[in-house]
Amino acid sequence: MIIPDITIAVDGYSATGKSTFAKLVAKEFAFLYLDSGAMYRAVTLFAQENGMIDADANIDLDALKAALDKGLDIHFEHTEDGCKTFIGERCVEKDIRTMGVSSQVSPVSAVAFVRNFVDDKLHQFSAAGRVIMDGRDIGTTVFPNAEVKIFMTARPEVRAQRRFDELVMKGENPDMEEVMKNLQERDYIDSHREVSPLSRAADAYVMDNSDMTLHEETVWMLGLLQGKFGILE
Ligand code: DC
Repeated sequence: MIIPDITIAVDGYSATGKSTFAKLVAKEFAFLYLDSGAMYRAVTLFAQENGMIDADANIDLDALKAALDKGLDIHFEHTEDGCKTFIGERCVEKDIRTMGVSSQVSPVSAVAFVRNFVDDKLHQFSAAGRVIMDGRDIGTTVFPNAEVKIFMTARPEVRAQRRFDELVMKGENPDMEEVMKNLQERDYIDSHREVSPLSRAADAYVMDNSDMTLHEETVWMLGLLQGKFGILE
């Protein structure tokens, strides 16, 4: 099926499978996939490793702003299985997915100058078009004119189990209660922050994938695109 060169925005709560879904769609329809959450995670990792954030998530805003203004090089390199995140020459893909980063990324991503920094990069990376991007504010702020917007959700216990399994697969030893608490905290901060809070764009299609397989998600997307673009294949 030939899909035109559009922008697809995928937003939703933590651990709803946004990136898995977006990667699948990117592969199926030859789109560039961009993971905006990875940018916030990389900024958080950078802040942690450079002593700009303490255990209570108090951020040294002056130091972080100076570092971002100087031009922190966070970028993606595209590999077979999606995108990989780099800070300079270092691949940080694994390091940004730990509980340590997950527990502090929401306060960092609530800072206005961090959001501006990330938004600028996302616009640069997607300048060539035909992009699918996932995050929290893609359809509302980053690409308000995206032709297709999807808002993903799933029951909290399903999301916690998915994140738990993902961490186990990565060799971590997660605690289910901690995982659930982290998801709830992030949902709350992400939805209640002042700048660009997580919310469903009025023109977004909602997908609750609590009981859907990946195949069903792909079929759902196919149906949506066929209907939207009048493709009768
Ligand atoms: O999608 P993720 O769990 O990797 O995102 C990590 C955090 O980054 C999330 O808790 C909130 C923040 N984020 C955001 O504020 N805006 C986005 N567009 C993407 C992520």
